[in-house]
Amino acid sequence: MSLNPATIIGTGIHIPDRQVTNFDLEKIMDTSDEWIQKRSGIVTRYHAHPKECTSELGAKAAQHALDSARLKATDIDMIITATLSPDHHFPGIGVKIQHALGLETTPAMDIRNQCSGFLYALNVAKMFVATGQCRYVLVACSEIHSKLIDLTTRGRDIAVLFGDGAGAVVVGPSDDPEKGILSCHLYSQGEHFHRLWLERPGTTGERFMEEDDLAEGRHFPYMDGRYVFKHATTRLAEAVTTATQANHLQVQDIDVFLFHQANIRINENVAKTMDIPMEKVPSNIQKYGNCSAASLPILLHETLEAGDIQPGKLVCFGAFGAGFTWGSAVVRF
Ligand code: UT7
Repeated sequence: MSLNPATIIGTGIHIPDRQVTNFDLEKIMDTSDEWIQKRSGIVTRYHAHPKECTSELGAKAAQHALDSARLKATDIDMIITATLSPDHHFPGIGVKIQHALGLETTPAMDIRNQCSGFLYALNVAKMFVATGQCRYVLVACSEIHSKLIDLTTRGRDIAVLFGDGAGAVVVGPSDDPEKGILSCHLYSQGEHFHRLWLERPGTTGERFMEEDDLAEGRHFPYMDGRYVFKHATTRLAEAVTTATQANHLQVQDIDVFLFHQANIRINENVAKTMDIPMEKVPSNIQKYGNCSAASLPILLHETLEAGDIQPGKLVCFGAFGAGFTWGSAVVRF
């Protein structure tokens, strides 16, 4: 079967307007601006308003991406969404974004791969376009972490890191076979699932949710920070190496590296190990914190807007997150 080249033809974002600084967090938990900046690079993040939900942010980012691709919602053949913070346990946010865009029966599916969600969704979108089953696929990634984290001292190791936001891309056919999504490499390792997880609610207990779960805080995310950090740096470097080798490229041939925004120190470590100058590794974690699945499409949109990815440039994406799941992708714009 011959495959059609697929590429990213539009990007969009939506960020809630409630900025939360490190100093704001100092007022509600035992933390400090100095600790947060030194350990993670984060200065601010955004928190959704009580009435905003994840699909709403996702639908706004999706509309923005459609506008940038100069398409109407009805041009879309498939919607793929990625989130770890859905509006409801079921159904997923895909169908709600479909409805918000005014579509009637366009297929929508949700991908549950946390911080690697964008790369998984991008790969699925690429395959739908490559095989000719779809012409245009919308990928919308959205997160509202602020409603599920413990915003007290007990949860400070996670609470200070995560922010809310949405990013979307439209994947469509590439008219130049040399340009587009050249490769995607995806990985997971379930033996580490409990190193970064939200244990309850779920089906592992007698009931979906029990009183003890609330009392003992099992409804808040848990992360073994140092363990995740170590794996993230190793796996990201591996995934970048695989991506470049698969495309017969040297690491130096890549113009821009877009890495998941979990901790500036992770990306600095990867860059140092791989001899990548930090000028090639843009970041916006300072502004937004970690937006899980939405981090990469937000960063892509802002890097394009800043004019730092011109036509013909080679971009290597990398992400690592809960599961563990991770991956890389190479796109020539
Ligand atoms: O997106 C998914 C992937 N996520 C990641 O990749 C995140 C990976 N992990 C990390 O980024 C880092 O491990 C953290 C930023 C989470 C933590 O940095 P660290 O340098 O590994 O710190 P630590 O967990 O070893 O904690 C050091 C100290 C502890 O105190 P003691 O035991 O040394 O007295 C913590 O209790 O910092 C304390 N601490 C805090 N202090 C002030 C933890 N959180 C905070 C906080 N404010 N928010």
